[in-house]
Amino acid sequence: MIQLAHKISIAPMMDYTDRHCRYFLRLFSKHLLLYTEMITAPAILHGNRDKLLGYDQSEHPLVLQLGGSNPAELAECAKIAEEWGYDEINLNVGCPSDRVQSGMFGLCLMAKPELVADCIKAMKDQVSIPVTVKTRIGYDHNDSYQELVHFIQTLEASNVDQVIIHARKGWLKGLSPKENREIPPLQYETVYQIKKDFPHLNIGINGGIQNVAEATQHLDHVDHVMIGRSAYHNPFILACIDQELHQSNQPIKTRQEIIEKLIPYIEAELAKGTSFKSISRHILGLFHGEPNARVWRRVLSDPQYQQNHSGIKLIEIALKSLSSTPDQT
Ligand SMILES: Cc1cc2nc3c(=O)[nH]c(=O)nc-3n(C[C@H](O)[C@H](O)[C@H](O)COP(=O)(O)O)c2cc1C
Repeated sequence: MIQLAHKISIAPMMDYTDRHCRYFLRLFSKHLLLYTEMITAPAILHGNRDKLLGYDQSEHPLVLQLGGSNPAELAECAKIAEEWGYDEINLNVGCPSDRVQSGMFGLCLMAKPELVADCIKAMKDQVSIPVTVKTRIGYDHNDSYQELVHFIQTLEASNVDQVIIHARKGWLKGLSPKENREIPPLQYETVYQIKKDFPHLNIGINGGIQNVAEATQHLDHVDHVMIGRSAYHNPFILACIDQELHQSNQPIKTRQEIIEKLIPYIEAELAKGTSFKSISRHILGLFHGEPNARVWRRVLSDPQYQQNHSGIKLIEIALKSLSSTPDQT
């Protein structure tokens, strides 16, 4: 088992954590561990690897999340990921969507602990970077603590380097993926108990964690905290991570400083033909909770503004509007 040092990560989120989003989130913290969206093993083996696996060097430390259940295919993907310079590989054993179930991966793999262990072993045989699993506390009616212990024991025997547990069960039928992230109740105590019962295994917790203060409390019980939606919708919560958890004595960056650092990236991407919208959609939450947050979002996402101004000009207008009009809405 490889010792892992990262305390906080941003959860893999399809359609959210693409490379533009990750570049932006990296600006908040050097130490944050970033995840790709889930990429399926067949896509990596047969698809456009530059498009699927390409990233900016500043995104390190970076984890590739894989979807799949064929040990040989996953092992091949792990090797490719290591060659591409990824820092870790994570297997998705938590996603309940129908599409994922029909491909026989994601949450439905909780029913096949031995197969998951075979996948981990096959990947670990091929690479020297850590191989981790992201899962839930149970699925359907298979949600007893003993069943979870059996699952984790089987993974531990495969020498998995970390298990991140979304602290709610998932339903394979009857709930949409979105409902499966909201309706089953969070059970943090179950994850804490797993850490107590598997003290040598690196255990991460995920689900409903709103900010770094809450993450710090979880870190009294587990090794790692993964934050998803709250970081995406209100990324400024990440700005204090290096100071609060990694002894940095640099001042916390302001929102304006973050934007200034992002502008050269946007310019370079626009020059390559990337659309402004594919980057700006990830920064709409930067001023969340601040006066005029809605003005920021409106200027950046209004199609009329987008027709009339270049991307960088839009950011300038949005920043100016923040300081001028009081938000009445
Ligand atoms: C839009 C969206 C896409 C997601 N895609 C993935 C994914 O690709 N792989 C995965 O393991 N989990 C995925 N998740 C689940 C998150 O990783 C995380 O487990 C979940 O949102 C709970 O954490 P949170 O309450 O901090 O958001 C996704 C969540 C959202 C909101």
